Amino acid sequence: MLFALDPERAHQGVLALLELAAKIPGAAGALGAAFSYSHPSLETEVAGLRFPNPVGLAAGFDKDCRLAGILPAFGFGFIEVGTVVARPQAGNPKPRLFRVPECDALINRLGFNSRGASHAAEKLRALRSRPVPIGVNLGINADTPAGHEVQGYLDAFRALQPFGDYYVLNVSSPNTPGLRELQDRIRLERILTALRSVNAPRKPIFVKLSPDIPPAQLDHLLPLLRDQAEGLVVCNTTVSRPGLPDRWADVRGGLSGLPLRDRSTQLIAEIYRRTEGELPVIGVGGIFGPEDAYQKLRAGASLVQVYTGWIYRGPGLVATINRGLAELLKDHGLSCVRDAVGRSVEVLERKP
Ligand SMILES: Cc1cc2nc3c(=O)[nH]c(=O)nc-3n(C[C@H](O)[C@H](O)[C@H](O)COP(=O)(O)O)c2cc1C
Repeated sequence: MLFALDPERAHQGVLALLELAAKIPGAAGALGAAFSYSHPSLETEVAGLRFPNPVGLAAGFDKDCRLAGILPAFGFGFIEVGTVVARPQAGNPKPRLFRVPECDALINRLGFNSRGASHAAEKLRALRSRPVPIGVNLGINADTPAGHEVQGYLDAFRALQPFGDYYVLNVSSPNTPGLRELQDRIRLERILTALRSVNAPRKPIFVKLSPDIPPAQLDHLLPLLRDQAEGLVVCNTTVSRPGLPDRWADVRGGLSGLPLRDRSTQLIAEIYRRTEGELPVIGVGGIFGPEDAYQKLRAGASLVQVYTGWIYRGPGLVATINRGLAELLKDHGLSCVRDAVGRSVEVLERKP
């Protein structure tokens, strides 16, 4: 039924329904009973935070933190809200979200539609329970003048600082002009230094990278990130169109879903190899089932996230992945998620 609707209207409809469900006493419990799966082998710890399972919801689904109270009931081990920007903004003109069903993919050019950081902060402040860690993904307003990007991230961070368990610097969305250029070593260092100087009490700060980042740029960035960030989110959507029919070539925006899966996994492995597994990675891109998630862990991800797969496969996907992951770990003689991390990658020296 939802796929018969315009994609953005379907999304807004689902958000409104879930917001309503969150107000019904007992609804979260009932959803949790239907959609959650837990197993001791899935519990894990990353950047000092404890996760009941490694499967999170990726940024962009709950941009305004409206649903952080009810989303854990769908079995997620963590939730990432945002991207939140400092001041409210409408985003790009519609239509700006497109389904590519023949490829299990989406193309979006939403452009950080956001009610702003104060609104998001109020939503997070009002949460009564927080059963899983909540990450807050930060961006900057589209009209941020050149040279004021640091201030843009700082304003959003300051407003939301008390409420997140971890933070993500989004410098990789293709839909805000100039944003991906902040993946430059010097520019990113300025942002990280500024955020770290006000990061008290200290919370982990992750950086979200683009799958389109050239290898030479990665070489420059990784030493900085290893030094100044607690981890990475790999990866955002791509402006390339791998395997898509030609008619999608001119549709602007970021591609997500199955066509991104292997590119994302390769980038995770490359980063794991170059950092000798010392920088935790949240792996995201094209996860549609347990085997996809397992491959990301083996490539070096400590946690994974889903977005497009959840839209296509439905709300049962998280439990399916978690159940399958617990079986895969057992079949391979591994006792926990952490034992699978980076197993398919040759590093120069494996830490004991
Ligand atoms: C409709 C849509 C909106 C998104 N919005 C954001 C966003 O605001 N911030 C962000 O960091 N990533 C955003 N993403 C990217 C996802 O978080 C994720 O990195 C990407 O979609 C790859 O994962 P997937 O293949 O499981 O969807 C968005 C993705 C989609 C499909």
